This record gives sequence, C-alpha cells and structure tokens, in this order.
Amino acid sequence: MLHFRLSSTLLLAVTCSLVTADVSTERVITCDNGNDVQRLSCDTGVIRVTAALYGRADRETCGEGKPPQQLSNTKCSQHGTVDVLRKRCDGKKVCELNTNVIRTTDPCYGIFKYLETNYTCFPANHLVTCEHSSAHLHCDEGQVIFVYGADYGRRDRTTCSYQRPTSQIQKVLCSNPTSKVAEICNGKNSCTIRASNSVFGDPCYGTYKYLEVAYVCQYPV
Ligand SMILES: *[C@@H]1O[C@H](CO)[C@@H](O)[C@H](O)[C@H]1NC(C)=O
Repeated sequence: MLHFRLSSTLLLAVTCSLVTADVSTERVITCDNGNDVQRLSCDTGVIRVTAALYGRADRETCGEGKPPQQLSNTKCSQHGTVDVLRKRCDGKKVCELNTNVIRTTDPCYGIFKYLETNYTCFPANHLVTCEHSSAHLHCDEGQVIFVYGADYGRRDRTTCSYQRPTSQIQKVLCSNPTSKVAEICNGKNSCTIRASNSVFGDPCYGTYKYLEVAYVCQYPV
C-alpha cells in the first residue's frame, strides 16, 4: 500500500499542478457477481482515489435484468471502502482488485451490489524496479525529491515477470508499504536504492518482487 504523505509544501505543489495540468476524474463501476475484477489505470501520473462506494446508490447501476427486490435498497454503502481502495491503489499506475477484497461485510443482504470508484491521475513520477536492481530517483537541477509512496512486493503477475518461473510470480497479494525510500531520498536531488530483501525485508518468501515508487520533484523550502 502507498501512503499519502502530503506535506503542506507538497499540497501547494499539487494544487498548482492540478490547476495547470488537465486532471480529469475517472469513474469505474464494477457489478459484483461474486468474483469480479476492477481495474484502475493512469497513462500519465499515478492513481489517487477520490471516492468509492460498495453497495447501491440508485436502481439503474448494474440493474439490468435484475429482479426489483434486489434493487430496492438505494442507500446501501459499506463503510471504509474508500480506505481499502486508497491503500491498494494510490500511487500506482495500474491497480486491479477483486471485489472479494473489498467485500468485508455485507452492507445490505439480498441487494445486488456494485463497486464504484472515482479517481484522478495525480502528476507524479512512477518508477518500478525489479528485485536485485537499483532504483534511481532524480530531479531537475535545484529541485528535490518528495516520495509520495513506496511499496516492495508483488501485486500483479505481469510486472517484472520476464523469464521468471510461474511459481515466483503467482503470489500477488504481497504488498509491503515502506517508508525507507522516503527516509533515504526525501530532500535530495537524486538517490539510488536497491530493490532487495536486505533493504526492505522479505514480505513473501519465494516470490520475485519489485519496488514501486511514486515521487514528485519540488523546490526546497
Ligand atoms: C463519482 O463521481 C460522479 C460524478 O461526479 C458522482 O456522481 C458520483 O457520486 C461519484 N461516486 C462516488 C462513489 O462518490
């Protein structure tokens, strides 16, 4: 998971870039038939979840062909859904999650539910480094790094999978948010950090992992 660690300076920087960059809100709706996958992605920048609903807020969404009684509760919303989405997706370029992960309780028994997520693509650098390689973060002259989030583990089967046996890329629920990158890199113009167990510990033994970092460059205060 990637934590929001917004300092007031960063907030300022973010606000400015949000004004200048054309940031649109994306909306994804996934009907919950039991085992559905929702996919969020950003072509530029990284995901920042702004709102999420698991339940039902109207009769129409995912309502086609459903009996009326399954659509009758339109004030159904599971608490904490947005936090789960944020933990899993903020700071990443692509985030796929199963509705199973979201469904911790049943907020309205007998109602056909869906997951609706709103997010923006936040302007940040995104860096993926396969295990045993080094991540190199750098900013233009005069600017310093601010790490927005970092995660060492594996969250999909495709990233850093080249020539790896299936057994090493199968475990995708291996997330290990880390503040180490921020500790080492924040305030510097550039920095290098190795994506390895010796630096981050081993969150899932036997899995080939990668380090995912989202950071911005800002003028020092
Ligand atoms: C997502 O954004 C749309 C459009 O602004 C809004 O109608 C909807 O309520 C939002 N969804 C959530 C879960 O807040």
